[in-house]
Amino acid sequence: MKNEVIVCKDVSKRFETERGVVDVIDKVDLTVEENELVVLFGPGQCGKTTLINVMAGLETATGGEVTVSGKKVEKPGPDRGVVYQTTALFPWLTVMGNVEYGPKSRGISKKERRERAQYYIDLVGLQGFENSFPSKLSGGMKQRVGIARAYCNEPVVMFMDEPFGHLDAQTRYLMQEELMRIWEKEKRTIVFVTNNIEEALYLADRIVVMTNCPTTVKTEYKIDLPRPRDYVAPEFLHLREEISAVVDKTL
Ligand SMILES: Nc1ncnc2c1ncn2[C@@H]1O[C@H](COP(=O)(O)OP(=O)(O)OP(=O)(O)O)[C@@H](O)[C@H]1O
Ligand SMILES: [Mg+2]
Repeated sequence: MKNEVIVCKDVSKRFETERGVVDVIDKVDLTVEENELVVLFGPGQCGKTTLINVMAGLETATGGEVTVSGKKVEKPGPDRGVVYQTTALFPWLTVMGNVEYGPKSRGISKKERRERAQYYIDLVGLQGFENSFPSKLSGGMKQRVGIARAYCNEPVVMFMDEPFGHLDAQTRYLMQEELMRIWEKEKRTIVFVTNNIEEALYLADRIVVMTNCPTTVKTEYKIDLPRPRDYVAPEFLHLREEISAVVDKTL
């Protein structure tokens, strides 16, 4: 039996603003299995971040419910980690300080959290930078710290909201490769958001195509291509065309 870790049932989100109500998510049904890497792929401004925030417990659904490991999500928790497009690292803390922050704030002993943080710093390829401050790091290195920090809390699921969206093209490819290497070594359940079809196809076990706002699941593709994937393989290019064609176009 497959182990369903995240279950979204009929999830909707409506914002009440001064200028009226805004429906952003419309009855999303989605399940994510243990150690599956699901990519949410959708047009700009469709509601991807809002959906991630609802699953992470940073926003409350106004309809339906989300469960993680069978427990209803009502607020943020250490079982759910988030990596954002621009990682808000604490500028006054070193790489080590940032990575060990979560376990430290949960009272884990210095020895244990240091060992754990070092393991994840090594895993993301930042050994030697433990004592560097974020201002000295490149964009790609900051995202590595963000990934190590999320891993260091040992969450059940990780949400990644366009984590490579601000990187230059070359670094973005490199980080996609790196994420695959890291994930093969330390499998986790990941929900990864992107509006880049190549990135979606390079990473995903399954691509969930979202509609325009108010967003819902349009269709899904199971991606069985062997890894590491080749961006120019005929099957890759074929899927790229096929999936691009079903995505709603925005202006
Ligand atoms: N707190 C809020 N109050 C009102 N409207 C909101 C709020 N948060 C998001 N929205 C609206 O919801 C819509 C979707 O926003 P969201 O950021 O979730 O989309 P997205 O798919 O992540 O966009 P992007 O591609 O820019 O990352 C937008 O129109 C936005 O204005
Ligand atoms: Mg977004």
